[in-house]
Amino acid sequence: MGIMRMGYAHVRVTDLAEAKHHYASTMGLYETLDEGNRVYYKGWDEWDHHSVVLEEGGVGLVKFGFKVDKPEDIDEIEQKAATFGLTVERMSAGENPEVSDGIRFTTPSEHVFEVYHSQTVIGTEVGTHNPESFPRHLVGVGVPGLDHALILAEDVGTMQQMLTDVFGFYATERVQTTLDDDAHLIATWMTSNNQIHQLAVLEGPQGRLHHFAFKLGDWSDVGRAADLMSMDDVPIDIGPTRHGITRGQTVYFFDPSGNRNEVFAGGYLAYPDRPVSVWTPEAIGKGVFYHARELNERFMTVST
Ligand code: FE2
Repeated sequence: MGIMRMGYAHVRVTDLAEAKHHYASTMGLYETLDEGNRVYYKGWDEWDHHSVVLEEGGVGLVKFGFKVDKPEDIDEIEQKAATFGLTVERMSAGENPEVSDGIRFTTPSEHVFEVYHSQTVIGTEVGTHNPESFPRHLVGVGVPGLDHALILAEDVGTMQQMLTDVFGFYATERVQTTLDDDAHLIATWMTSNNQIHQLAVLEGPQGRLHHFAFKLGDWSDVGRAADLMSMDDVPIDIGPTRHGITRGQTVYFFDPSGNRNEVFAGGYLAYPDRPVSVWTPEAIGKGVFYHARELNERFMTVST
């Protein structure tokens, strides 16, 4: 099946101690490795070694890792990336702790993507034999795992083409200037499976991270997460609210370094034969924030 999911988000933080408090105590991620200047985390419902990496120094994205189904998928994606005109390098097992060999390339949007086929499996507290529904002693929000990300790109159309040709993604929703075939593409939400989006791309400065998101179960989880953010003085960008686009329920907030995070629940199941939902500029406020129906300045201007 090629790309299965976004396996890890590796981001920079200005102060690792503050960031550790946010991602471990408030979000409830499990620390799996501390290398001093880099710390590795997983959510309670993730089996692989890590899904979030924090690196001290600066802000914004270091790279994303995408996990494929089979080792031979790496060769196929390498070939497709080369055909697309990307410069691809091989990465060795262990360049990322507990991560297999794979490939690395810089996207047309100037983000670094890695593609790998396996990570050390460390499992979950509930296991696979007669598993309980969740671990009893979750910390803070207790996020189950990483969900998706939104990145910025000067040319959304080229990124959409790259994700289609190289990763086999398809678009579930788009924002474009008009309904015409030659309309200018402002944003696209893309996936390779039934997840409503694994990666979205919004028009903006190259190489920037808009946010990365953790999955939650439902509306009540989203509300509880927002309550915990207030308890811990986490700056909330907006929410709890719903997205018109994807129908997901959401809170946007910032980590102590200013990287935007999201908790995301719901969203409908996607299938490749589903027509793409198209949003046009007069409804973009409702598309992004379904209840407020207008964008806030911060959402459009703050990225890391
Ligand atoms: Fe999101």
